[in-house]
Amino acid sequence: MKIAVLTSGGDSAGMNAVVRAVVKAGILKGCETWIVREGYEGLVRGNADAEPTETPSLKPAVDVKVREPSFIQNLRFGDGELLRDGTGDHTGGRTLKGRYIIRVGWDDVRGWFAECECALSRPVQGGTLIGTARSAAFRTQEGRLKAAYNLIKEGIDALAVCGGDGSLTGADVFRAEWPQLLQTLHANGQITDEQLQKHGHLRIVGLVGSIDNDMSMTDLTIGAPTALHRICEAIDNIHSTANSHSRAFVLEVMGRHCGWLALLAGVSSGADFVFIPERPPQADPWEDMMCDAIKRHREIGKRKTIVIVAEGAHDSQLKPIQASYVKDVLADRLGLDTRVTTLGHIQRGGRPCAWDRILPTLQGLEAVDALLEATPDKPSYMIGMRENRVTRVPLMEAVAMTQSVTAAIKAKDFEKAMSLRDPEFQE
Ligand code: F6P
Repeated sequence: MKIAVLTSGGDSAGMNAVVRAVVKAGILKGCETWIVREGYEGLVRGNADAEPTETPSLKPAVDVKVREPSFIQNLRFGDGELLRDGTGDHTGGRTLKGRYIIRVGWDDVRGWFAECECALSRPVQGGTLIGTARSAAFRTQEGRLKAAYNLIKEGIDALAVCGGDGSLTGADVFRAEWPQLLQTLHANGQITDEQLQKHGHLRIVGLVGSIDNDMSMTDLTIGAPTALHRICEAIDNIHSTANSHSRAFVLEVMGRHCGWLALLAGVSSGADFVFIPERPPQADPWEDMMCDAIKRHREIGKRKTIVIVAEGAHDSQLKPIQASYVKDVLADRLGLDTRVTTLGHIQRGGRPCAWDRILPTLQGLEAVDALLEATPDKPSYMIGMRENRVTRVPLMEAVAMTQSVTAAIKAKDFEKAMSLRDPEFQE
């Protein structure tokens, strides 16, 4: 089997560990492994504009039974087309310009998530070394047709996609459309009878890489724990200055339609008040409720005030709650010297925490197994986590359930939104 792995949508810490795990597990299971640069955009662009280059001499896929050290030692440069300069522009002397779908080997991903003594080791890095994009082209059927052609041209029959709900929705659409795309390519004379036969089924698996932790049917998404750490570090720093001046701080955190980062940051930092999209303040006007709570906290001796606003927060009528407005309320009603801090992309960057190395490694192994076991009559799976165990759930169901949370919020059915996020939620 030839597996390609790509990262898509907003980057998150742990995506490199996903690529590493899929590549290494793929090789150990006897597969040929590829990466796609720049997410779905790379799939659409393929290698059509590649500068002429010598075809690298690649070793055949390795027998899974061969595991002694010599196996690893032998997997040197020749096994893949090394992405050696971090920009993805050069690879062991061969240019990657115009090439988006690239064969990789063991060494290509060595040290992608941990410091090691290996000469090829990279420092621990966040983000995604193979690039990501939010591809407009892949949202069109024309783009997906090109993507299908590019995969078939390289003989790739399995795809591991690491991204958020939008990216996994894309994966789901791609798989559902695959037979039709194939027929069109065949009718256009772009693929042969033999290719039509061989690639009748696209194996696809989703790994959830997103700082937002907004995907249903999994407890934790890859990158969310690191982003939460970043936010906590930032709040720790704010605590000291807030305390010194006895100030109030309103922090805006990311998360799109999901309040997980805001809520957990609030719990971890002892915040005074938190605004999340799934559960807007119940009182009307909410300003009174917030001021009462903060006044009480001040009366019992707190010198500082921390309010966390999820970027997607709104009131019960869906009117956005902005950090600047919260600041004005605190200043005008309680006379607090108040500042706003928007954490922005600092939350998304930086080294993955331990959990964002463990989670992708375990899930990457499971993803390769799911691809190997995929059959046309089974659904595509999303690799998740439930009560500390790696799980496989139908990708389509997870995507649909995630979308229904957003729909419930838009319909102001906040109870439903909360219970979809957490089936055990009770008032
Ligand atoms: O989905 C991840 C995320 O960081 C969201 O929390 C945020 O709303 C969005 O991406 C920001 O996107 P961009 O990086 O395109 O500004």
